[in-house]
Amino acid sequence: MGTERNDRIEQRRSPVPLAIFGGRGGGAQAAFAAQRLEAQGLMRCVGFLNDNEPAGTLISGYPVLGPFVSWPDLAKETRFLAPLHKAKQMMARADAIRELNVPLDRWANVIDPQAVVAPDVSLGTGVFASAGSSIMCGSRIGHHVAVRPGGHIGHDALVEDFAFVGANAVVCGYAKVMEGAHIAPGALIREGTTVGRYSVVGLGAVVVDDVPDGTIVAGNPARIINTISL
Ligand SMILES: CC(C)(COP(=O)(O)OP(=O)(O)OC[C@H]1O[C@@H](n2cnc3c(N)ncnc32)[C@H](O)[C@@H]1OP(=O)(O)O)[C@@H](O)C(=O)NCCC(=O)NCCS
Repeated sequence: MGTERNDRIEQRRSPVPLAIFGGRGGGAQAAFAAQRLEAQGLMRCVGFLNDNEPAGTLISGYPVLGPFVSWPDLAKETRFLAPLHKAKQMMARADAIRELNVPLDRWANVIDPQAVVAPDVSLGTGVFASAGSSIMCGSRIGHHVAVRPGGHIGHDALVEDFAFVGANAVVCGYAKVMEGAHIAPGALIREGTTVGRYSVVGLGAVVVDDVPDGTIVAGNPARIINTISL
């Protein structure tokens, strides 16, 4: 009991410094979550790594520290997050994250204090769960997965590395979202179905059948509208 209390005090003394790859959009949302974790003494956003905007530029009040390649220059206790997901570019983004060669133990999970994650969920690393998102019992979440506000992952679901679950999207129980798949805001994935690798489920789509790898689907019920070369 005493040890637990001391651990909590220790956490308050040394919040984990967090640097975010990216910037406006997903990066800024992650910085906002980190700010809320900072209020609990758990994490402290030190800024962004960004290839498009010069060092010193402020994004949502946090500075650009340098380009992506400068991550090794940051203090060794710094942890990283790369919320770089973008529909139809998921494979290139996943490759970009891999090419950074950040060791697995340097990635942070940024779980907003108002996200709900069941205690038996297995989480990879580099996971970002926004305020109001929920991940239910028995689910398995890979590395570099993002779940945006109101995104819900039901029980016993599988969400593989680099996948994205947009705002108010629902992945029902036992569904599988394979590597790098992009579930756009408001989409619904029926229980037990599989969304293939690097596929895109469009805004508000209702997936009732399996979606093959590298496929774009839209509508209710979701139909194939295009493909993505893998
Ligand atoms: C599904 C999606 C990827 C399709 O984009 P696209 O490949 O550029 O396709 P287009 O916009 O040219 O649309 C192709 C056809 O599908 C239809 N369509 C596109 N998105 C649709 C959707 N969500 N629901 C129903 N129909 C849709 C279009 O009306 C068009 O129909 P038409 O050929 O009869 O004119 C895109 O609409 C989408 O939902 N992107 C997700 C964006 C996202 O996640 N944003 C949030 C980021 S936080």
